Amino acid sequence: MNPFHRLWQLSLFSFILAAITGFLYRYGMLYPLPEIFHFANIRHAHSHLMFFNWICPPLMILMIQHLSKNGEIKYINSFKWCLSVMIFLGLLSYPFFLFYGYQSVAIGSANLPLAAIISGLVMIAWYWFAWLYYKIEKRDSESVTHIIVDGALLTLLISSLGAWGVSIFQFTPIDSPLISSAMTHFFLSVFTEGWTVLGILGMIWAKAGSVEFKPGAGWLWMPILFGSMMIFPFSLSQSLITPAMLYTAYAGMILIIVSFSLNIYLLIKQKVLNGFMWYTVFFLAGFILLFKFAAVLPVDIWPGEHGLRVLYLHVLLLGFFSVALIELFQPKTARWIKAGFTISALLVIFSLFMISGYWPQALIPPNLFFWIMVVAGLPVIPAALLWFDTFKKSYK
Ligand code: HEM
Repeated sequence: MNPFHRLWQLSLFSFILAAITGFLYRYGMLYPLPEIFHFANIRHAHSHLMFFNWICPPLMILMIQHLSKNGEIKYINSFKWCLSVMIFLGLLSYPFFLFYGYQSVAIGSANLPLAAIISGLVMIAWYWFAWLYYKIEKRDSESVTHIIVDGALLTLLISSLGAWGVSIFQFTPIDSPLISSAMTHFFLSVFTEGWTVLGILGMIWAKAGSVEFKPGAGWLWMPILFGSMMIFPFSLSQSLITPAMLYTAYAGMILIIVSFSLNIYLLIKQKVLNGFMWYTVFFLAGFILLFKFAAVLPVDIWPGEHGLRVLYLHVLLLGFFSVALIELFQPKTARWIKAGFTISALLVIFSLFMISGYWPQALIPPNLFFWIMVVAGLPVIPAALLWFDTFKKSYK
Protein backbone atom coordinates (compact mmCIF):
# COMPACT_ATOMS: atom_id res chain seq x y z
CA MET A 1 0.00 0.00 0.00
CA ASN A 2 1.22 3.53 -0.77
CA PRO A 3 2.37 4.92 2.62
CA PHE A 4 0.76 8.26 1.82
CA HIS A 5 -2.57 6.81 0.71
CA ARG A 6 -4.57 8.10 3.70
CA LEU A 7 -3.09 11.57 3.34
CA TRP A 8 -4.10 11.72 -0.32
CA GLN A 9 -7.62 10.68 0.71
CA LEU A 10 -7.70 13.56 3.20
CA SER A 11 -6.51 16.02 0.56
CA LEU A 12 -9.20 14.85 -1.82
CA PHE A 13 -11.75 15.15 0.97
CA SER A 14 -10.55 18.74 1.57
CA PHE A 15 -11.00 19.47 -2.13
CA ILE A 16 -14.61 18.26 -1.94
CA LEU A 17 -15.28 20.39 1.15
CA ALA A 18 -13.68 23.47 -0.45
CA ALA A 19 -15.59 22.88 -3.70
CA ILE A 20 -18.91 22.68 -1.78
CA THR A 21 -17.91 25.98 -0.16
CA GLY A 22 -17.40 27.50 -3.65
CA PHE A 23 -20.90 26.26 -4.52
CA LEU A 24 -22.25 27.82 -1.30
CA TYR A 25 -20.84 31.19 -2.44
CA ARG A 26 -22.73 30.95 -5.74
CA TYR A 27 -25.88 29.71 -3.95
CA GLY A 28 -25.69 32.71 -1.63
CA MET A 29 -25.65 35.06 -4.63
CA LEU A 30 -29.18 33.87 -5.51
CA TYR A 31 -30.82 32.70 -2.30
CA PRO A 32 -30.61 34.00 1.27
CA LEU A 33 -28.04 32.33 3.51
CA PRO A 34 -28.23 32.22 7.33
CA GLU A 35 -26.91 35.47 8.84
CA ILE A 36 -23.76 33.83 10.15
CA PHE A 37 -22.36 33.58 6.59
CA HIS A 38 -20.57 36.48 4.89
CA PHE A 39 -19.31 36.30 1.31
CA ALA A 40 -15.76 37.40 2.14
CA ASN A 41 -15.48 34.67 4.79
CA ILE A 42 -16.90 31.96 2.51
CA ARG A 43 -14.32 32.96 -0.10
CA HIS A 44 -11.52 32.85 2.51
CA ALA A 45 -12.62 29.39 3.71
CA HIS A 46 -12.73 28.11 0.12
CA SER A 47 -9.41 29.52 -1.07
CA HIS A 48 -7.42 28.73 2.10
CA LEU A 49 -8.57 25.12 2.26
CA MET A 50 -7.67 24.69 -1.42
CA PHE A 51 -4.23 26.26 -0.86
CA PHE A 52 -3.46 24.53 2.45
CA ASN A 53 -4.75 21.02 1.77
CA TRP A 54 -5.26 20.59 -1.96
CA ILE A 55 -2.10 22.18 -3.30
CA CYS A 56 0.57 21.66 -0.64
CA PRO A 57 0.32 18.11 0.79
CA PRO A 58 -0.25 16.32 -2.57
CA LEU A 59 2.66 18.16 -4.22
CA MET A 60 4.86 17.35 -1.24
CA ILE A 61 3.90 13.65 -1.32
CA LEU A 62 4.83 13.45 -5.00
CA MET A 63 8.12 15.20 -4.28
CA ILE A 64 9.09 12.78 -1.51
CA GLN A 65 8.16 9.80 -3.65
CA HIS A 66 10.30 11.09 -6.48
CA LEU A 67 13.26 11.55 -4.16
CA SER A 68 13.02 8.02 -2.76
CA LYS A 69 15.71 5.58 -3.76
CA ASN A 70 14.46 2.18 -4.96
CA GLY A 71 11.13 2.82 -3.29
CA GLU A 72 12.77 3.44 0.09
CA ILE A 73 11.88 6.77 1.67
CA LYS A 74 14.17 8.16 4.36
CA TYR A 75 12.51 9.71 7.42
CA ILE A 76 9.17 8.37 6.21
CA ASN A 77 7.54 8.60 9.64
CA SER A 78 8.68 12.20 10.13
CA PHE A 79 7.26 13.07 6.69
CA LYS A 80 3.97 11.37 7.57
CA TRP A 81 3.76 13.30 10.84
CA CYS A 82 4.58 16.58 9.16
CA LEU A 83 1.96 16.14 6.43
CA SER A 84 -0.67 14.88 8.88
CA VAL A 85 -0.18 17.95 11.09
CA MET A 86 -0.31 20.18 8.01
CA ILE A 87 -3.61 18.66 6.82
CA PHE A 88 -5.07 18.70 10.33
CA LEU A 89 -4.24 22.42 10.69
CA GLY A 90 -5.68 23.15 7.24
CA LEU A 91 -8.96 21.48 8.22
CA LEU A 92 -8.92 23.19 11.62
CA SER A 93 -8.57 26.62 10.02
CA TYR A 94 -11.63 25.99 7.82
CA PRO A 95 -14.48 26.69 10.30
CA PHE A 96 -12.67 29.78 11.64
CA PHE A 97 -12.25 31.23 8.15
CA LEU A 98 -15.84 30.30 7.30
CA PHE A 99 -17.48 31.87 10.35
CA TYR A 100 -15.03 34.61 11.36
CA GLY A 101 -12.63 35.25 8.44
CA TYR A 102 -9.63 37.18 9.72
CA GLN A 103 -11.64 38.66 12.60
CA SER A 104 -10.75 37.90 16.21
CA VAL A 105 -12.69 35.25 18.09
CA ALA A 106 -13.61 35.76 21.76
CA ILE A 107 -12.11 32.98 23.89
CA GLY A 108 -12.76 33.64 27.56
CA SER A 109 -11.51 37.18 28.19
CA ALA A 110 -9.15 37.17 25.18
CA ASN A 111 -9.84 38.06 21.55
CA LEU A 112 -7.72 36.01 19.20
CA PRO A 113 -7.49 36.04 15.37
CA LEU A 114 -7.63 32.24 15.31
CA ALA A 115 -7.72 31.77 11.51
CA ALA A 116 -4.57 33.90 11.17
CA ILE A 117 -2.85 32.05 14.02
CA ILE A 118 -3.63 28.63 12.51
CA SER A 119 -2.44 29.88 9.10
CA GLY A 120 0.87 30.83 10.76
CA LEU A 121 1.15 27.28 12.13
CA VAL A 122 0.47 25.87 8.66
CA MET A 123 3.40 27.88 7.34
CA ILE A 124 5.59 26.51 10.13
CA ALA A 125 4.59 23.03 8.96
CA TRP A 126 5.83 24.04 5.46
CA TYR A 127 9.22 24.91 7.01
CA TRP A 128 9.20 21.57 8.81
CA PHE A 129 8.65 19.82 5.46
CA ALA A 130 11.42 21.83 3.76
CA TRP A 131 13.81 20.98 6.59
CA LEU A 132 13.04 17.24 6.29
CA TYR A 133 13.34 17.43 2.52
CA TYR A 134 16.79 19.01 2.63
CA LYS A 135 17.90 16.50 5.30
CA ILE A 136 17.51 13.68 2.80
CA GLU A 137 20.89 12.68 1.45
CA LYS A 138 22.13 14.38 -1.67
CA ARG A 139 20.97 12.31 -4.61
CA ASP A 140 23.38 10.57 -6.96
CA SER A 141 22.28 12.39 -10.07
CA GLU A 142 20.42 15.57 -10.86
CA SER A 143 17.31 15.28 -13.00
CA VAL A 144 15.21 18.10 -14.35
CA THR A 145 12.56 17.23 -11.76
CA HIS A 146 15.02 17.54 -8.86
CA ILE A 147 16.21 20.92 -9.96
CA ILE A 148 12.68 22.26 -10.56
CA VAL A 149 11.41 20.87 -7.24
CA ASP A 150 14.27 22.55 -5.35
CA GLY A 151 13.24 25.83 -6.98
CA ALA A 152 9.58 25.19 -6.17
CA LEU A 153 10.29 24.67 -2.46
CA LEU A 154 12.38 27.79 -2.38
CA THR A 155 9.47 29.79 -3.81
CA LEU A 156 7.14 28.32 -1.17
CA LEU A 157 9.47 29.60 1.56
CA ILE A 158 9.83 32.99 -0.12
CA SER A 159 6.05 33.32 -0.54
CA SER A 160 5.54 32.77 3.18
CA LEU A 161 7.63 35.90 3.89
CA GLY A 162 4.87 38.00 2.30
CA ALA A 163 2.25 36.41 4.57
CA TRP A 164 4.36 36.99 7.70
CA GLY A 165 4.95 40.55 6.50
CA VAL A 166 1.19 41.26 6.49
CA SER A 167 0.80 39.97 10.06
CA ILE A 168 3.78 41.92 11.41
CA PHE A 169 2.82 45.07 9.51
CA GLN A 170 -0.52 45.17 11.39
CA PHE A 171 1.41 45.91 14.59
CA THR A 172 3.41 48.84 13.17
CA PRO A 173 2.20 52.46 13.36
CA ILE A 174 2.33 52.77 9.55
CA ASP A 175 -1.12 52.94 8.01
CA SER A 176 -0.62 52.14 4.33
CA PRO A 177 -3.19 50.04 2.47
CA LEU A 178 -0.74 49.90 -0.48
CA ILE A 179 2.03 48.17 1.53
CA SER A 180 -0.36 45.75 3.21
CA SER A 181 -2.08 44.87 -0.06
CA ALA A 182 1.30 44.59 -1.85
CA MET A 183 2.52 42.06 0.72
CA THR A 184 -0.68 40.00 0.47
CA HIS A 185 -0.40 39.90 -3.31
CA PHE A 186 3.32 39.16 -3.13
CA PHE A 187 2.40 36.04 -1.13
CA LEU A 188 -0.38 35.10 -3.55
CA SER A 189 1.65 35.50 -6.74
CA VAL A 190 4.76 33.73 -5.46
CA PHE A 191 2.58 30.91 -4.08
CA THR A 192 0.52 30.41 -7.24
CA GLU A 193 2.93 31.35 -10.04
CA GLY A 194 6.06 30.08 -8.26
CA TRP A 195 5.36 27.19 -5.88
CA THR A 196 2.23 25.74 -7.51
CA VAL A 197 3.40 26.09 -11.11
CA LEU A 198 6.98 24.90 -10.51
CA GLY A 199 5.80 22.09 -8.21
CA ILE A 200 3.36 20.65 -10.72
CA LEU A 201 5.76 21.20 -13.66
CA GLY A 202 8.43 19.25 -11.77
CA MET A 203 6.01 16.37 -11.25
CA ILE A 204 4.81 16.44 -14.86
CA TRP A 205 8.48 16.18 -15.86
CA ALA A 206 8.83 13.18 -13.54
CA LYS A 207 5.87 11.51 -15.25
CA ALA A 208 7.28 12.30 -18.68
CA GLY A 209 10.46 10.49 -17.65
CA SER A 210 12.45 13.28 -16.02
CA VAL A 211 15.51 13.73 -18.18
CA GLU A 212 19.08 14.18 -16.90
CA PHE A 213 19.93 17.71 -15.91
CA LYS A 214 21.80 19.56 -18.63
CA PRO A 215 23.48 22.97 -18.53
CA GLY A 216 20.84 25.51 -19.44
CA ALA A 217 18.10 23.68 -17.53
CA GLY A 218 18.05 26.68 -15.19
CA TRP A 219 15.82 28.32 -17.81
CA LEU A 220 13.13 25.82 -16.80
CA TRP A 221 12.73 27.25 -13.32
CA MET A 222 14.81 30.35 -12.51
CA PRO A 223 12.82 32.85 -14.60
CA ILE A 224 9.60 31.53 -12.97
CA LEU A 225 11.11 31.92 -9.50
CA PHE A 226 12.23 35.51 -10.08
CA GLY A 227 9.24 36.41 -12.25
CA SER A 228 6.76 35.23 -9.62
CA MET A 229 8.30 37.71 -7.15
CA MET A 230 7.98 40.61 -9.59
CA ILE A 231 4.41 40.38 -10.89
CA PHE A 232 2.41 41.21 -7.75
CA PRO A 233 1.74 44.84 -8.87
CA PHE A 234 -0.60 43.39 -11.54
CA SER A 235 -2.96 42.32 -8.74
CA LEU A 236 -3.15 45.81 -7.22
CA SER A 237 -5.45 48.56 -8.32
CA GLN A 238 -4.06 50.18 -11.48
CA SER A 239 -4.42 53.65 -9.96
CA LEU A 240 -2.19 52.77 -6.99
CA ILE A 241 0.97 51.57 -8.66
CA THR A 242 4.00 53.59 -9.77
CA PRO A 243 5.63 53.30 -13.25
CA ALA A 244 8.62 51.49 -11.65
CA MET A 245 6.28 48.87 -10.17
CA LEU A 246 4.52 48.47 -13.50
CA TYR A 247 7.75 47.90 -15.45
CA THR A 248 8.97 45.43 -12.83
CA ALA A 249 5.72 43.50 -13.26
CA TYR A 250 6.08 43.53 -17.08
CA ALA A 251 9.64 42.20 -16.80
CA GLY A 252 8.52 39.48 -14.34
CA MET A 253 5.69 38.40 -16.62
CA ILE A 254 8.03 38.17 -19.63
CA LEU A 255 10.41 35.97 -17.58
CA ILE A 256 7.51 33.68 -16.65
CA ILE A 257 6.26 33.51 -20.25
CA VAL A 258 9.72 32.45 -21.50
CA SER A 259 10.21 29.71 -18.92
CA PHE A 260 6.62 28.41 -18.84
CA SER A 261 6.43 28.13 -22.65
CA LEU A 262 9.82 26.41 -22.73
CA ASN A 263 8.61 23.81 -20.21
CA ILE A 264 5.39 23.16 -22.11
CA TYR A 265 7.12 23.03 -25.50
CA LEU A 266 9.74 20.53 -24.28
CA LEU A 267 7.13 18.42 -22.49
CA ILE A 268 4.97 18.22 -25.61
CA LYS A 269 8.10 17.35 -27.62
CA GLN A 270 8.70 14.31 -25.37
CA LYS A 271 5.47 12.83 -26.85
CA VAL A 272 4.89 10.59 -23.82
CA LEU A 273 2.00 12.40 -22.15
CA ASN A 274 -1.02 11.48 -24.23
CA GLY A 275 -4.75 11.05 -23.69
CA PHE A 276 -7.63 13.37 -22.87
CA MET A 277 -6.33 14.49 -19.45
CA TRP A 278 -2.85 15.47 -20.67
CA TYR A 279 -4.20 17.12 -23.82
CA THR A 280 -6.48 19.18 -21.57
CA VAL A 281 -3.52 20.13 -19.36
CA PHE A 282 -1.57 21.34 -22.42
CA PHE A 283 -4.62 23.12 -23.83
CA LEU A 284 -5.07 24.97 -20.51
CA ALA A 285 -1.35 25.80 -20.49
CA GLY A 286 -2.00 27.55 -23.82
CA PHE A 287 -4.82 29.52 -22.19
CA ILE A 288 -2.56 30.49 -19.29
CA LEU A 289 0.00 31.80 -21.77
CA LEU A 290 -2.71 33.78 -23.56
CA PHE A 291 -3.58 35.54 -20.27
CA LYS A 292 0.06 36.27 -19.62
CA PHE A 293 0.58 37.73 -23.09
CA ALA A 294 -2.55 39.85 -22.63
CA ALA A 295 -0.97 41.35 -19.49
CA VAL A 296 2.12 42.57 -21.33
CA LEU A 297 0.66 43.52 -24.71
CA PRO A 298 -1.03 46.92 -25.22
CA VAL A 299 -4.58 45.46 -25.25
CA ASP A 300 -6.06 47.41 -22.35
CA ILE A 301 -6.56 44.37 -20.10
CA TRP A 302 -5.68 44.63 -16.40
CA PRO A 303 -5.04 41.19 -14.82
CA GLY A 304 -6.12 42.44 -11.38
CA GLU A 305 -9.73 43.10 -12.49
CA HIS A 306 -11.88 40.90 -10.27
CA GLY A 307 -13.70 38.85 -12.94
CA LEU A 308 -10.57 38.25 -14.99
CA ARG A 309 -8.51 37.42 -11.93
CA VAL A 310 -10.98 34.81 -10.65
CA LEU A 311 -11.18 33.30 -14.16
CA TYR A 312 -7.37 33.15 -14.52
CA LEU A 313 -6.86 31.64 -11.06
CA HIS A 314 -9.32 28.85 -11.82
CA VAL A 315 -7.81 28.12 -15.25
CA LEU A 316 -4.50 27.66 -13.46
CA LEU A 317 -5.56 26.00 -10.19
CA LEU A 318 -8.75 24.10 -10.97
CA GLY A 319 -7.79 23.39 -14.58
CA PHE A 320 -4.06 23.04 -15.24
CA PHE A 321 -3.00 22.06 -11.70
CA SER A 322 -5.93 19.91 -10.53
CA VAL A 323 -6.38 17.92 -13.75
CA ALA A 324 -2.65 17.08 -13.81
CA LEU A 325 -2.70 16.22 -10.08
CA ILE A 326 -5.62 13.80 -10.47
CA GLU A 327 -3.90 12.06 -13.38
CA LEU A 328 -0.65 11.80 -11.40
CA PHE A 329 -2.29 10.43 -8.24
CA GLN A 330 -5.01 8.22 -9.63
CA PRO A 331 -3.68 6.61 -12.80
CA LYS A 332 -5.68 3.45 -12.08
CA THR A 333 -9.09 5.09 -11.62
CA ALA A 334 -11.64 4.52 -14.40
CA ARG A 335 -11.09 6.95 -17.25
CA TRP A 336 -14.73 8.10 -17.34
CA ILE A 337 -14.47 9.39 -13.74
CA LYS A 338 -11.32 11.38 -14.50
CA ALA A 339 -12.84 12.62 -17.76
CA GLY A 340 -15.92 13.67 -15.73
CA PHE A 341 -13.69 15.67 -13.39
CA THR A 342 -11.91 17.33 -16.30
CA ILE A 343 -15.16 18.23 -18.11
CA SER A 344 -16.71 19.63 -14.92
CA ALA A 345 -13.58 21.76 -14.33
CA LEU A 346 -13.75 23.04 -17.92
CA LEU A 347 -17.43 23.89 -17.44
CA VAL A 348 -16.67 25.87 -14.26
CA ILE A 349 -13.93 27.73 -16.13
CA PHE A 350 -16.29 28.44 -19.04
CA SER A 351 -18.96 29.69 -16.61
CA LEU A 352 -16.39 32.04 -15.04
CA PHE A 353 -15.54 33.35 -18.51
CA MET A 354 -19.24 34.21 -18.95
CA ILE A 355 -19.18 36.42 -15.85
CA SER A 356 -15.66 37.79 -16.35
CA GLY A 357 -16.90 40.94 -18.04
CA TYR A 358 -15.37 39.83 -21.38
CA TRP A 359 -18.27 37.69 -22.60
CA PRO A 360 -20.47 39.39 -25.26
CA GLN A 361 -23.64 40.86 -23.70
CA ALA A 362 -25.75 39.55 -26.59
CA LEU A 363 -24.76 35.96 -25.78
CA ILE A 364 -25.73 36.05 -22.12
CA PRO A 365 -28.47 33.42 -21.57
CA PRO A 366 -31.49 34.03 -19.31
CA ASN A 367 -31.02 32.96 -15.67
CA LEU A 368 -27.25 33.14 -16.11
CA PHE A 369 -26.45 33.11 -12.37
CA PHE A 370 -28.70 30.14 -11.78
CA TRP A 371 -26.66 28.13 -14.34
CA ILE A 372 -23.40 29.48 -12.91
CA MET A 373 -24.50 28.09 -9.52
CA VAL A 374 -25.47 24.69 -10.97
CA VAL A 375 -22.14 24.37 -12.80
CA ALA A 376 -20.21 25.36 -9.64
CA GLY A 377 -21.60 22.24 -7.93
CA LEU A 378 -20.60 19.83 -10.72
CA PRO A 379 -16.93 19.07 -9.78
CA VAL A 380 -18.12 17.74 -6.42
CA ILE A 381 -19.67 14.68 -8.13
CA PRO A 382 -16.57 13.30 -9.95
CA ALA A 383 -14.36 14.35 -7.01
CA ALA A 384 -16.55 12.25 -4.69
CA LEU A 385 -16.32 9.32 -7.15
CA LEU A 386 -12.53 9.70 -7.22
CA TRP A 387 -12.54 9.68 -3.43
CA PHE A 388 -14.70 6.53 -3.20
CA ASP A 389 -12.41 4.87 -5.71
CA THR A 390 -9.41 5.32 -3.39
CA PHE A 391 -11.13 3.00 -0.86
CA LYS A 392 -11.21 0.12 -3.36
CA LYS A 393 -8.83 -2.71 -2.55
CA SER A 394 -7.39 -2.65 -6.06
CA TYR A 395 -6.36 0.96 -5.61
CA LYS A 396 -4.30 0.61 -2.47
C1 HEM B 1 -14.07 22.95 -7.47
C2 HEM B 1 -14.56 23.93 -8.15
C3 HEM B 1 -14.45 25.35 -7.69
C4 HEM B 1 -15.48 26.22 -7.52
C5 HEM B 1 -16.93 25.93 -7.75
C6 HEM B 1 -14.92 27.47 -7.08
C7 HEM B 1 -15.66 28.61 -6.78
C8 HEM B 1 -15.14 29.81 -6.35
C9 HEM B 1 -15.90 30.99 -6.06
C10 HEM B 1 -17.41 31.09 -6.16
C11 HEM B 1 -15.04 31.97 -5.70
C12 HEM B 1 -15.39 33.41 -5.32
C13 HEM B 1 -15.43 34.22 -6.62
C14 HEM B 1 -15.60 35.70 -6.41
O1 HEM B 1 -15.02 36.27 -5.49
O2 HEM B 1 -16.31 36.30 -7.23
C15 HEM B 1 -13.70 31.42 -5.74
C16 HEM B 1 -12.55 32.11 -5.44
C17 HEM B 1 -11.32 31.52 -5.34
N1 HEM B 1 -11.01 30.21 -5.62
FE1 HEM B 1 -12.25 28.76 -6.32
N2 HEM B 1 -13.56 27.35 -6.99
C18 HEM B 1 -13.22 26.06 -7.34
C19 HEM B 1 -11.96 25.51 -7.35
C20 HEM B 1 -10.82 26.14 -6.88
C21 HEM B 1 -9.53 25.52 -6.76
C22 HEM B 1 -9.20 24.09 -7.16
C23 HEM B 1 -8.69 26.46 -6.23
C24 HEM B 1 -7.26 26.36 -5.84
C25 HEM B 1 -6.58 25.25 -5.83
C26 HEM B 1 -9.46 27.68 -6.03
C27 HEM B 1 -8.96 28.86 -5.53
C28 HEM B 1 -9.67 30.02 -5.39
C29 HEM B 1 -9.08 31.28 -4.95
C30 HEM B 1 -7.63 31.53 -4.59
C31 HEM B 1 -10.12 32.22 -4.92
C32 HEM B 1 -10.04 33.67 -4.49
C33 HEM B 1 -9.90 34.56 -5.72
C34 HEM B 1 -9.75 36.02 -5.33
O3 HEM B 1 -10.65 36.61 -4.77
O4 HEM B 1 -8.69 36.56 -5.56
N3 HEM B 1 -10.75 27.43 -6.42
N4 HEM B 1 -13.79 30.10 -6.16
